[in-house]
Order: sequence, then structure tokens, then C-alpha cells
Amino acid sequence: MTIIEKINEFLSRTSRLMKGGGEASLEKQKKRGKMNARERLDALLDGDSFFEIDLFVEHTAKDFGMKGKQLAGDGVVTGFGRVNGRSVAVYAQDFTVVGGSLGKAHADKIVKTMDSAGEMGMPLIGINDSGGARIQEGVDSLCGYGDIFFRNTRLSGVVPQISVILGPCAGGAVYSPALTDFVFVVDKISNMFITGPQVIKTVLDEEISAEELGGAKTHSGITGNAHFYVMTEQEAFQQIRKLLSFLPLSCSEKPPVMEDIIPPKNALNSTDVIPADRTKPYCVKGIIKGIIDGSDFLEVQERYARNIVIGFGRIDGKTVGIIANQPQFLAGVLDVNASDKAARFIRFCDAFNIPLLTLVDTPGYLPGIDQEHSGIIRHGAKLLYAYSEATVPKLTVVMRKAYGGAYVAMCSRHLGANFVIAWPSTEIAVMGPEGAASIIFKKEISESDDPESMKKKMVQKYEDKFANPYIAASRGYVDQIIEPSETRETLITALRLAKNYKTNVIKRRHGNMPV
Ligand code: HXC
Repeated sequence: MTIIEKINEFLSRTSRLMKGGGEASLEKQKKRGKMNARERLDALLDGDSFFEIDLFVEHTAKDFGMKGKQLAGDGVVTGFGRVNGRSVAVYAQDFTVVGGSLGKAHADKIVKTMDSAGEMGMPLIGINDSGGARIQEGVDSLCGYGDIFFRNTRLSGVVPQISVILGPCAGGAVYSPALTDFVFVVDKISNMFITGPQVIKTVLDEEISAEELGGAKTHSGITGNAHFYVMTEQEAFQQIRKLLSFLPLSCSEKPPVMEDIIPPKNALNSTDVIPADRTKPYCVKGIIKGIIDGSDFLEVQERYARNIVIGFGRIDGKTVGIIANQPQFLAGVLDVNASDKAARFIRFCDAFNIPLLTLVDTPGYLPGIDQEHSGIIRHGAKLLYAYSEATVPKLTVVMRKAYGGAYVAMCSRHLGANFVIAWPSTEIAVMGPEGAASIIFKKEISESDDPESMKKKMVQKYEDKFANPYIAASRGYVDQIIEPSETRETLITALRLAKNYKTNVIKRRHGNMPV
């Protein structure tokens, strides 16, 4: 062969492989309303930055008609690219090639990308669209999953890991996304379940559609398996790009700092930020947006456990992880799901050098048989553990109620907060004034000629004495009492002071978090 012939052969091989499963399969994918693997990478990455590896990898399977069967890229496109000019490692499963099913060679390509992400210190983004373990390859495909899970775990806390579910993700395959930090789902496109509707019908005689069982709404609103719910694939990629803008590339870096600092759109006003009536709900997102740069808040798990709000913002150009009770839902109580949601987020921020900002207004842990039997003791403990374990700067703003265990749990001084500020509307006590007065003044109330007005009097007495920030401040548990309008400036100063914050960590193999 001449050099020209060799080059032509190379070009024709490349062109064939770039077409994935071929024109008909690509057309089928389009008809399903789905982008193909290469279109997805183009939408995710900076223009022309994709740097592919392993295009020519082939499987070696022989059974069930696999001998000699050519599968472009073995059903997955892998490599590197840039997002906002910063490097990332990526893989996109190609459903047009035997349903993106995972055989040994397919898994090895993913594993190689994961290893490179760890070695070179860059985030890993996995685009999942697959029928699961390639049935014809038997145990070889199962071992491929094991190799991936092992690396997802070993990379946890080393580089950020993001999964996007853009098609089926069934059986054991779901455990790779579940081991990553953030899972994106798209309305009517994503499906995740351990066993699908057919198996459930056969084994349990229960009927449910795939969408109801494991669709995007289910995982973002009910199970909490997904962190971001969006309407289109394009939106998913835009959101991933935004998410990455808040994060460092690896645990050895600090998050990027924005040079252009835009003030919040609506700064906090001291007099009307919290309703005058202490029992009235309000939306804490308004307060978050009144504190952070440009009011630009990227909420995580927006549809799940809405009694707590978590997400990323910037103060003074620096990324902060925000955890805030949400009085608008269940009065902002802490329950099983809210504890899980916040604890995992805190651990992510701690792993990637992101300071924590906690905004407190909670009446406490949710009482009830359901919560007790669902393990609120164990789940609630995760929050205590995550805050206590975190060694990033921890700033806490008490806005209104901080009662009982929840006062301690919401990043109090006692769990290692570096700086605690309280607004004049703060109430720090063992419980709310009504409950407390009924217990400690029980005798006075029951023996009174007018128990109702006596109770009111005692509630007022308790409120005057305890439902304020001054006792906690007199003990040094609160560092400063400030007006709400001073919050942003105070936090900017606190973050600047904490720039080189270091804390001693006891040497041990690892702790044993309640899971
Ligand atoms: C081999 C597969 C495959 C698989 C799909 N295909 N899944 N090939 N192994 N697991 C192939 C199909 O044969 C077909 O090939 C092409 O992909 C497209 O699939 P269709 O069925 O035509 O598409 P669709 O109707 O959209 O249905 C998609 C699907 C369905 C819902 C994913 O294919 C399906 O149910 N697949 C099996 C899912 C499954 O049970 N997987 C194993 C899970 S257990 P042709 O040649 O016709 O185009 C598992 C264990 C992991 O993953 C354990 C880890 C610990």
C-alpha cells in the first residue's frame, strides 16, 4: 500500500467509526428525541476541544453471534475536553451501538478515562445511555461494572464526579451514578431502576410505568437519587457547565475565584427580611439571594426534602456551599431526608475546599412515629457528623429559631463553626416558648383561676428571658449580633479572615459515619 492508500484507509475507518451504530440507528435515536453521543459531547464541551482516545478499541467476544461483529468504539466515546477553558475527562455511552450495552472493552475504555481523571486531577463527567451489562459477554461485562464502581469510590473526594442520565440506566448500572457526586436527569428521557416494570409485574404483580418507577420526576422529587432535574438535554449540559464553574478541578485546589464581583440584586433590608410574626413562614431563597454575588444561586436537589435548601453561590467572588432551613416547607424542620440531603452536600464541600455558609431558622427535629421508625436518630446523626468532620471554614448565621438539637446540629459553635452571627430576631432555646412554658410553668398554669391568660403570661416570661440571641452571645456561642442588612459585609470580612484557615485533624484510618 502506498502512503496515500494507507491514509485513505485510515480516513475511511475513522469515518465509519464516527458514525456509531450507522445512519439507521442514529435516525432512530433522533426520533426518540435524543441527541447522539457525539452531539452530546459537542454540547457539553468548549467548541472543538474534544480530544478523543480509544476510537479504534474492539471487543474480543465470540459467543452469541459476537464473533467478528464490529461495534464502533465498542459503544462508548471517551476522552478529554474543556469546559470554560478548564480540563475535564468525559465518556458518553452510545445507544446506537448495541444499545450502549457495557462489554469488557467498553468498560476498559471508561476505566482508562477514570484513571486519567484521577492522575491528572480533573473532573469526570459520565453520560449514561445504556441497556446495561452486555448480555452476550456474561461475567466479563459484570466485572467491567465492578471495575467502574471501584474507581468511582476511589475517586470520590479526589475529583468531582458528575453523571448525566440520558436514556435507560438499569440494573446494577445505576450504582455508578449513585457513587458519583451529582446526578442530572432530564424529563421523559432518563430512566433509572434496579429492576424494571416487567420484572416487578412478574415477581410482585405490581404495575407501574417506567417513567413513574424511575423517571426524572421520581428521582428528583421522591428518591433523592438525582440532584438536578431539567427539561432538555441542552439544559443539562448548560447546568453542568455552570456547576463546574463553582468547583475546583480536584481536591488539591481551591475553587476558582471570580474577579468581577457583582452585588446582590436585592440587598437585605434590616426591617422586613423576617416576618414580624415569629410563626409566619417565608422563603429563605430570598435571603440567600440577598447575600450572594449577583444573587446567582445554583440550587442542588431543589425538588427533594424542600424543608432544607442547599446549593452553591459566591461571596466576594469565592464559592460557598450554602445550607439553609426553609421555613416555607414544614416550617424548616429537620427530618430524615433533609438530614441526608444536607450531610452529603456538606461532605462534598469539605472534600473540595468549599467554605460552608449555614443559615438557621428551624423549630427542631421533626417529631412523630414515622420519623422515629424511619431512623431519625441515625439520619439526624449524619448532619452532626458531617459538620463536625468538616475542616473548611464554617460560617453560621442564625436568623430566627434555633431550638433544641437543631440549634446544635445546624453548624453551631459546638460543632466547630468558626464564626457565628445572629440577627436580633434570633431565638436560641431548648424548645419553643409555648412548649417550654407549658412544661416548666405547668403548676402555675393549672392552679391559676385563668389558665389561658396565665399561660400567655408565662410564654411571654420565657420569651423575654430565653427567646433571643443575648444569652448565647453572653456565653460566646454567638460571636456577633448584627442587623440583617450587615450580613453580606460581615461574611465577606469573615471569609477574608478565614483565607488561610487550618485545623488539626486527628490521625486515623477513617471515621465511621452513621450511614
Ligand atoms: C446486549 C442489548 C442490551 C444488553 C439492549 N441491547 N440492551 N444488547 N445487552 N443489555 C441491544 C438490543 O438488542 C438492540 O440491538 C439495541 O440494543 C437497542 O435495543 P432495543 O431493545 O431495540 O431498544 P429499546 O426498545 O429502546 O429498549 C431499550 C432497553 C431494552 C429498555 C434498554 O433494550 C432492554 O430492556 N434491554 C435490556 C436491559 C437489561 O435488562 N439489561 C441488563 C441489566 S442487568 P439491535 O441489534 O436490535 O439494534 C445489569 C447488571 C449489571 O446491567 C450488574 C452490575 C453489578
